[in-house]
This record gives sequence, C-alpha cells and structure tokens, in this order.
Amino acid sequence: MRKKIVAGNWKMNLDYNEGLSLFSEVINIINDEVTGQQEVIVCSPFIHLHSLTQLAKGYKVAVGAQNAHQAESGAYTGEISAKQIKSTGAQYVILGHSERRQYFGETNELLAKKADTVLANGLTPIFCIGETLQEREAGSHFGIIKSQLEEGLYHLDEAAFSKIVIAYEPVWAIGTGVTATSEQAQEIHAFIRSEIAEKYSQQVADSITILYGGSCNPKNAPELFAQADIDGGLIGGASLKSRDFADIVKVFN
Ligand code: G3P
Repeated sequence: MRKKIVAGNWKMNLDYNEGLSLFSEVINIINDEVTGQQEVIVCSPFIHLHSLTQLAKGYKVAVGAQNAHQAESGAYTGEISAKQIKSTGAQYVILGHSERRQYFGETNELLAKKADTVLANGLTPIFCIGETLQEREAGSHFGIIKSQLEEGLYHLDEAAFSKIVIAYEPVWAIGTGVTATSEQAQEIHAFIRSEIAEKYSQQVADSITILYGGSCNPKNAPELFAQADIDGGLIGGASLKSRDFADIVKVFN
C-alpha cells in the first residue's frame, strides 16, 4: 500500500513568528483530529525549518524545504544546501516547482542534479512536474510530463527512484482557483504511473506516491483523493489556513 501524503507548501509567506504560530495550530489540530495513516508535511521557507522541526517533536507532522542547491557546499552566495537542510531536522525537499522553473530557470537537467544531492543527504525529494495551459491547449502535455520524468529522474536506479514522491501540478491550476477536474488529474496520474512501470517495473510504479497540486481545497480534495492514482496533495494557499489544511488532511481519515 503506497503512502498517502498531504504536504503544505507555504511558498514565500509568513515571517518568523507567523510561521511558528501557524505551525503550532497545525500540529495540534492534526494530532487531535487525524485518525488515519496519512502522512502530513509542511514545507516552509528556510528561516522556519529548525524551529518547526523542534516544535514537531512528538507530533505527527514532518517538515520540508522548498528547494536545495545542487552542490554539497561552496561559493554560492544566498543558496542553501541539502546538507544544511538535513541539519535542521527537515526530511523533505520540494524540487522543480513550476515557480522555480519559471522564475529561476530551473531545467530538468539541473533538477536531476538536485535530486541526486537531496537523496545523497538522506532527504526525500517531492519532485514537481506539470504542463502550462499553452502546452495543454497544444496537446503536448503528455510529452512534457514524459520529458520531465525522463530528464529529471530516469537517471536514478530503481532503489533511488523508489524513494521519490512525485507531485503533478498543472501550472494552469496553481494559485488560480481553476482546479483540474478529477478526471483530468486522474488521467495524468495514471499516465505518470504507466510511464514509471515502463521504465522501471509495475511494482515500483504501484509503490510511488503521486500527489496532485493546484488549487486543492477542502471542497474538491475528497473527489480528487478518491481517484485511483491520486495519493494526496501538495497544497499551496489552503496550507496557510490551519483549518483548511487540516480538513484536506482529514480526507484520508
Ligand atoms: O506546491 C503547491 C502549489 O503550487 C499549489 O498552490 O495555491 O494552487 O494550492 P495552490
């Protein structure tokens, strides 16, 4: 049985105290109200990581970062390494978010290197893939997804690949309020799983957690998460509200 995961992506929001306050609300609601085996992750800005991992001790919430540099260390002013993230107690790292691909020019080739470094430091990548509206309207979305997998992850051997969490985030659904229909999302999730089966094996494909991200909220999460190949969500805006985020997590109760 593959893991069910709901991960929050705070993006570039919340100052230090606001982050501590929201996270304290989240861990207490989750501890009181979650009855299932679902895993809960909060991916915060770097400034919060160590404080959140300390607060999370004894609670059912893990902490993640939203990026990591591909080098182990060095003269990369302003960057953060996977080793430094690991030292905070964080366990996950979002890689390849469409906002980083768009605003910071992150390519599949670069992300392949980032995935290697994150895995080498014992962290779990949440690897984002997804098409733009233009690509979908052009009918090239399957090819885009395929190339993101092939160029970003297929250099990994089966053991390493099996540690990856994948997040399908149609760019046109991120922050827009326009959520993919459950049919649209399931179609791509099933395609991703079939591609993985072809590259590695059906066993690996069946074990990989594939999250949906893009305007997921407490109203649409139940139908999305009921789909055969959707194993949870990567939540942006709704993760900034403790009740909304918890209600999404509770879909798996
Ligand atoms: O990484 C999750 C994020 O891209 C989705 O954002 O606000 O549409 O839930 P949002």
